[in-house]
Order: sequence, then C-alpha cells, then structure tokens
Amino acid sequence: MCGIVGYIGKQKASAIILEGLKRLEYRGYDSAGIAIQQAGRFEVAKKTGRVEGLIKATPAQKITGTTGIGHTRWATHGGVTDANAHPHVSSDGKIALIHNGVIENYASIKKFLLPKGYTFQSETDTEVLCNLIAYHYQKEPDVKEASRFLESVRKSLRHVEGTYGIAVMCGDCPAEIVSARKGSPLILGVGDGELMLASDVAAIISRTQNVVYLKDGELLHMTAKNFSITTLEAEDVSPVVDKITWKIEDSELNGHAHFMEKEIFEQPAALENTMRGRFSEDGSTAQFGGLNISAVDLRQVDRFHLLACGSAWHACLVTEHLIERFARVPVEVDYASEFRYRNMPLGNNTLFLTVSQSGETIDTLAAMREAKRKGYKVLAINNVVGSSIAREADGGVYQHVGPEIGVASTKAFTSQLLVGAMLALYLGRMRDMSFSDGAEYVKALKGVPDLVRQALEQAPHIKEIARRYAHYHDFLFLGRLSLFPVALEGALKLKEISYIHAEGYPAAEMKHGPIALISEQCPSVFFVPSGEMFNKVVSSMQEIKARKGKIIAVATDKCDLPAGLADEVIRIPECHEAVLPIVATVPVQLLSYYIAVELKRDVDKPRNLAKSVTVE
Ligand code: G6P
Repeated sequence: MCGIVGYIGKQKASAIILEGLKRLEYRGYDSAGIAIQQAGRFEVAKKTGRVEGLIKATPAQKITGTTGIGHTRWATHGGVTDANAHPHVSSDGKIALIHNGVIENYASIKKFLLPKGYTFQSETDTEVLCNLIAYHYQKEPDVKEASRFLESVRKSLRHVEGTYGIAVMCGDCPAEIVSARKGSPLILGVGDGELMLASDVAAIISRTQNVVYLKDGELLHMTAKNFSITTLEAEDVSPVVDKITWKIEDSELNGHAHFMEKEIFEQPAALENTMRGRFSEDGSTAQFGGLNISAVDLRQVDRFHLLACGSAWHACLVTEHLIERFARVPVEVDYASEFRYRNMPLGNNTLFLTVSQSGETIDTLAAMREAKRKGYKVLAINNVVGSSIAREADGGVYQHVGPEIGVASTKAFTSQLLVGAMLALYLGRMRDMSFSDGAEYVKALKGVPDLVRQALEQAPHIKEIARRYAHYHDFLFLGRLSLFPVALEGALKLKEISYIHAEGYPAAEMKHGPIALISEQCPSVFFVPSGEMFNKVVSSMQEIKARKGKIIAVATDKCDLPAGLADEVIRIPECHEAVLPIVATVPVQLLSYYIAVELKRDVDKPRNLAKSVTVE
C-alpha cells in the first residue's frame, strides 16, 4: 500500500529511484512521482498511472541531482489525480514529502495551518503533514541550524495521529533525507558510498544487501556521508545491519509473461524450500527452529487462535481443520480486522498465531498487538524476513518462498498451507498421533513438490477450459471440509484478477441460497475428493446439473464420476488429506490466471488492489 524510495549518493538519483519504484509498484499503482534536489530547489514530476508513464514523462537526463525521493500511490485520502500524487511540496516551497499511511487528525492540523497562511493544492492528508513540518521548520530559529530540519520533522510527528512511513527533504539541506515510521514499513539500505530508503527490500536489492529495519517511533536522518537513528523522544538508537538473502533474480520475470504465472510454476521449488530442514531425524514429525516455545508449554495450550487477512485467512481455515483433526486441539480463526475490535472472551491457555505473507498487513499487525496487550504469546507465519510482524512476534516460522510480487497470492498461500500442515503434524505427534501415522504424514508432506508438479502438468488442459469459460459473469466454487477454504481461495483468485463475480461455499450449504444463482449462465467449480465425501459431493453436483448449471470438477484420480455429470474434469493426484488442499489449489490458480489472461486483464496489478495493505 504505497511504495517509498529515497536515495542519497553519487549517482543520478532519478534513475535509481524510478527503478526502485518499478519494483515496489505492486504496493500501489494509482500514481507515481519523484522529487529530486536540484541546485537548491526541488525538481518534482508526478502523474496518475503507472511508473512506466512517469518514466516516459520525466526528462531524466536533465535531472542530475543525487538526492531524491519517490512514491507509488494506492489512494486513501483524495482521488486518483496528478495533484493528489506524491511527493507533496509545502506551500512555502521548503519541504517535500512522500507518505505511506493515513494521518487521521489531518483535518484539525489543516484548520491550525490555514490561518497561518499555508495553502493546499491537493485533498490529501499527506500535504497537511508536509505543511506542518514547514511550519515547525520556520518556527524554530532557536534550534541549531544543523538539526533544525530533523527537529521540525520530530516535532511535527509528535502532533500526528495515525500511521506513517515518510521520507522528507528540505530545500535548505541539499543532501539530507529525514524519514520516520509508525505502522508502515521502512528499510534503510547501506550501500557503497550511498544510502537508500525503501518500503521493502525489492527496491534496493539491486544496489545492496545490507539493510537496517526501522522500528515504529524511529526517525532516520540520512546525509551524503552518514546516517543516524533516533526515537521520537530524541534518544539515540544503535542500528543493527542485517543481510538480505533474496537475490535480484528472484524479483524478475525470467521469461514468464507475469509474476503470477512465474510464482504458480515456482511452487514445487518454493514448497521444497518451506520444508527444508524441518523434519525430525526419525522421520516421524516436523521440527521448527524459531517457535521459541518449549514442547512442555505447547502441550499446555488448549486453544489456538489464528489471525490473518485475505488468502492468509483462507490458509488459516485449512490449518484449523488440520490442527483439530490431527492434534485434537480446538482452533478459532478470525479476520484480523474483526478480532482487533471484537473484545471477545479468551481462555488462559490460548496461543495466538498470525499468518501474513508480507508481515506488514496493518490489521494483522494490530490484531497481534491487541493479543499481546492482553498478555498472550503470539507466533507468526511470514514470508518476508525482518517484517514488522516477524519482529514483534514471540516466535514463528518463515516460509522461505522468495519474494512474491504478483498481487494475487499463489506460492505464499500454498506454502502457508504447508506450514499449517506441518504444525498440525508437530502438535499431533505431541499428543495422540502414533509414530507410524506421523511417518506416513511426513512421507506425504515430502511428496508435495512432486504432487504439485503433477497438478501443474494440467496447465494446457486448464488453459483450454479457461478459454471456453472466460465469458461467464458469475462462478460458484464449492468444496467440503478442508476443501471449502480452497473453494473460497479459488473464488477470491478469480474475482481478484479477472473481475468476474465468484463465491465460495461449502458444497452442501449451496442449497441454502447460492443455488438460486444457478442457470446455464453460472458455472460451478467443484472440488471432488475420493473417500467418504465423494458421494456427498456428487449429490451436490447432481443438484446443480438438474438446474442446467455447468460443472468444472477438480477431482482426484480415483474419483469415478458419473458419466456426463461434469462438463469439464481436471484431474489431480490422489494424496494424503493433509496435503490435498495444497494440490487442489493449483488448478484453480491456473484457471483464474488463464481466464484473466484471456480477458486481457492486468494480472499482476489488478484494479483497486495492492499487495501489502498497510492502511486500515
Ligand atoms: C492483500 C493481497 C492478498 C493477501 C492479503 C493479506 O489483500 O492482495 O493476496 O492475501 O493482502 O496479505 P498478507 O501479506 O498479510 O498475507
């Protein structure tokens, strides 16, 4: 949700910042802009639309300054217009600012500034903060000249309610950037004779692997020679420099048409990475290095509370099913955005688990903080190392699937399912699961990359189906038990990237409403497992067929479907029930991807969405 880049060094800042913005575009793509320090003034270029459009409109050769900031926007306050695009410059021309987050008390600050002569060109909360900094900057002649700029930012932020990741420049300080965060991510990249600032590592890995993760309430002061970090209360902070393990190639298309396609086909390798080193030597259970909770304490847990948003929430629903089934511990799953305001009664021995690819989703972060405030331990499943949630959690599991850039989650989702399945095994083995059942479960998990590879072989067949079904306007996705959340995920994928209306339902529940939608115009995607649910699901399919609904069945190999019942059949290999949701996800990822391609949608950057939702 908005991407921020800053640069101070010896190179032309504009080219480096624009390149960084391209890599952060998945965070928001309503508009983009840059401001470069240029011979004592700001050179500002900003524009609605994609970074590519800004690049074309920016006379890069003329902008030679070596200090600058850039922004890619996901609109919150104010429509998608050039004027509302960032950077914003204060009405006295002294301060330039980019912002990710929401200044909640912007209206009262604006009311304070208007009588003092400050004027506003946009409808944004950001421009208000920009002018507030300009106000404090002008007002503080008593502060030493050298720190006047930094102190004006610090002072302004003390009056701000809301969330922010900001980068600020001052016209009087040509080689300085001040930035700060509260609730929105910011990372400092420490390069060779240069410093970079970004919302996440994707923007800086091409220049350095050394990073400092800023914490909430910290201010970073970058100069051409150095940097320092202090708190809002002006206390010094000793920076810790970490090394990023992701490589630049991980965030490139490598011959694929879209990141989503690349990430779908990367799944066998990604899932292998998620599992690596995480099975016990005797091959009967999983092991995790970072849970930070002893087996003795874990045994005392009598309820798990899972919190997440979006696809990660669907992953939690599958994990709920598996933990309850294999470890026999009750599980509650909440939307993080609801949990934070629900104030529900909670037991004493509840353990919280948050699931978030980015580790920056603001609702998940806030829900986690609420659980901690109430005195609970919180574990986290995250993909992005060093993310806010990962750092604030008491322990957790990293997914290790590399950067996920397509806005619609694919490899991160299946990897969350895998971690959930491994946790269910680990907890199950601590309780009633036998050695041999554990060994069989481990064998099934180890087979996942190969099963996913087999599911991917259906891609040409699914592409054909997509071509025939792309013109429908409504879809139902129906599954039972652990395949119900997969139905929800299938429906979400389709609507996210193709803008086709789709709903996920438990197959039997379909009779209580959604069946009213069924006609020749509304196809249903059924997940059909062999075993005890087979006949039940087939009955639901018959009910759809009787009403002339078209059926696409995602069925395991052994399912002997009645002739003519399904219009299309996509086969997936038979597998252990703990891994079935992973394997069953692959065909619906491909189906929605190919439908979106058929409809010529912008697959990696679907309208109105952003990958990392850092505003409430
Ligand atoms: C956004 C993305 C989804 C993602 C959700 C949660 O809505 O478009 O793909 O599932 O955020 O993100 P997280 O990073 O917390 O998993």
